[in-house]
Amino acid sequence: MAEIIVTTREGQHLTLAAKPGLSVMEIIRDGGVDELLALCGGCCSCATCHVYVDADFAAATGQPGADEADLLDSSDHRTPASRLSCQIAFTAALDGLKVTIAPED
Ligand code: FES
Repeated sequence: MAEIIVTTREGQHLTLAAKPGLSVMEIIRDGGVDELLALCGGCCSCATCHVYVDADFAAATGQPGADEADLLDSSDHRTPASRLSCQIAFTAALDGLKVTIAPED
């Protein structure tokens, strides 16, 4: 089973089972991490699923799309590593992906 490693806002590291076909947001939510609010359910309209992608996975996860980038601009905590986790489709190539949940805006 593939997995992702999530660092919470308190610095706790969680290893979560990950299935291809789900978004990274869905994997985190299904893993019981409720601090990732994901209020819009993955429609790319809320930015409450903001994460930082570990540098080792930046190339594999790619850059935000235009709508995603616009939403990220509304965050006070945007960095070059920022992504909306609902917009990252998990694939086998992302096994071991490390993300950190961004501070709440
Ligand atoms: S869940 Fe709302 S933008 Fe990702």
